[in-house]
Amino acid sequence: QTPEAFSCPALILHGSSDKLYSAQGSHAVHRLWCQNIQGGDAPGSFPVLKIYDGAYHQLLNEPNRDEVISDIIAFVNVAPQGFITIKLKTSWMQEQMGDLFEHELQLRSSSPQRIVIDYSSPNIAKEMHVGHLRSTILGDTVANLFSYLGHDVVRLNHVGDWGTQFGMLLEYMRRKDALDGEASMVSDLQQFYRSAKQAFDEDEDFRKSAQTNVVELQGGSEWARTAWNRICEASRKEFDLVYQRLNIEGLQERGESFYNEMLPDVVEDLQRKNLVTESDGALCVFTNVSETPLIIQKADGGFGYDSTDCAAVRHRVQDEKAQRVIYVIDNGQELHMRMVFSAAEKAGWLGEGQKRLDFMGFGLVQGQDGKKFKTRSGDVVRLRDLLDEAASRSEAELRKRAEAAQRDIDTQKEEQLKKDAESIGVAAVKYFDLRQNRNSDYRFSYDQMLDPKGNTAVYVLYAYARIAGVLRRAEHDVSSLSSSDLVLTEPSERALALRLMRLPEVLTQLEDDLLPSRLIDHIYGLATDFTTFYTECFVIGSEQEKSRLVLLEVVRRQLAQCLGFLRIQPFEQL
Ligand code: ARG
Repeated sequence: QTPEAFSCPALILHGSSDKLYSAQGSHAVHRLWCQNIQGGDAPGSFPVLKIYDGAYHQLLNEPNRDEVISDIIAFVNVAPQGFITIKLKTSWMQEQMGDLFEHELQLRSSSPQRIVIDYSSPNIAKEMHVGHLRSTILGDTVANLFSYLGHDVVRLNHVGDWGTQFGMLLEYMRRKDALDGEASMVSDLQQFYRSAKQAFDEDEDFRKSAQTNVVELQGGSEWARTAWNRICEASRKEFDLVYQRLNIEGLQERGESFYNEMLPDVVEDLQRKNLVTESDGALCVFTNVSETPLIIQKADGGFGYDSTDCAAVRHRVQDEKAQRVIYVIDNGQELHMRMVFSAAEKAGWLGEGQKRLDFMGFGLVQGQDGKKFKTRSGDVVRLRDLLDEAASRSEAELRKRAEAAQRDIDTQKEEQLKKDAESIGVAAVKYFDLRQNRNSDYRFSYDQMLDPKGNTAVYVLYAYARIAGVLRRAEHDVSSLSSSDLVLTEPSERALALRLMRLPEVLTQLEDDLLPSRLIDHIYGLATDFTTFYTECFVIGSEQEKSRLVLLEVVRRQLAQCLGFLRIQPFEQL
């Protein structure tokens, strides 16, 4: 066998968590693994398609290379087309599992960074829609994961609280005498917004006043600021309700208005660097990504979305000292963001390429018909209603189950059932969203996301509760067991162990490509591997009870850990 045969098993380097992140080969191996896993390889073997240099060198430089190989690998088989199958030694896998059992898994990035994540970012005076739901869920998951990996994460809500729309909103409300009305405003705002837009489009006089209002607001005039504040406050309350239900924490509001004061200086900065061209009175920055420029100051002197985003990126890398900034925004805004990135680079704000800007885009959420997701009356679906619906459907399901099991639901249980239904509903929505490749559009389906047999939060939560139940019912208490109780014998045990060992590479990869669906694949993999194991192996009362309890405890912990990244609290009983 050529030495190249050993080039791939980056898994080797996963033996201890400190080496974990230096395993350069893990990405390629993971990808290849996924491509091959359907190939029907025996559980416990590690099929790799291609020789990967990074890992090869790692291994070559490993001082005890031969020992490592003989401790870890039972055999390597190289097929003519370059397929390499590596079978890991059971003893080694047992050791790994033992480690996981004895020690809390603590993974750390090899290069912790300060990372700003821009997510959620709804617009004031407008309803939060499913696009914002996606941004919120994707952003929060990545932020949680990055904090866990030891990064210094700043979570920013780039709320749309600035710009011309406020001029017309203020004007409309002034005319309606609604500027200092009561807090019922929340629901009115959307309607105000629509009527204001109409008046703006149709009425010259209205338009002029609206434009004056913008200038007054941006210039800091008292009445405009006060009214604007009240509008923001009302919207904020609405957003917070959604954040509470989704368990979103630590998200700081830093809306577009925050950057207002910096805008003139940003324009100057760009001018100094000779990046600004005047066109019809507007100040433009041409970038490397598009023929249309960024408009950093409009002909009337006003500033818009392009201006704030330029200021924001500069502030984030220079003042916030972020080494990486991640923007979680729908794919429709990719070009806009790429232009901003390009401008930042040309302006030298990113240093010598030490700062990384990521556009973490996502596709549309569609209705069942593949068209825009709307209510029956044709309105945009409000996030609240969507979560309500998911909760009420899962409530119905819980009731059905209770009935089938002939369990009575007294008042106390009634309350609990409602709470559980809410948690399951929200978990299902989150999971279903994260499960998709974020770049694709997907069809929103309550039936699919609540399917207890599908790749859903419901399925995973049941699997978790079943594991917890086994551990509870068993004669041996987990705390009385030790890693030496563990012996892997059956193929389904090996498969489960292999799965557990792969979390580090899943996270390393996610850290780079920002695809949270990888985490869901892992969670689902764990749950299905557990299901297979549980159908094939007795636990309670079997000869291997102790060993299997150890394995199940490791699975339980890892599942809880992963669900924690989604801020889903699993149930001990369901
Ligand atoms: N408010 C915008 C929207 O609802 C999203 C803002 C995203 N972040 C940014 N820095 N542009 O579409």
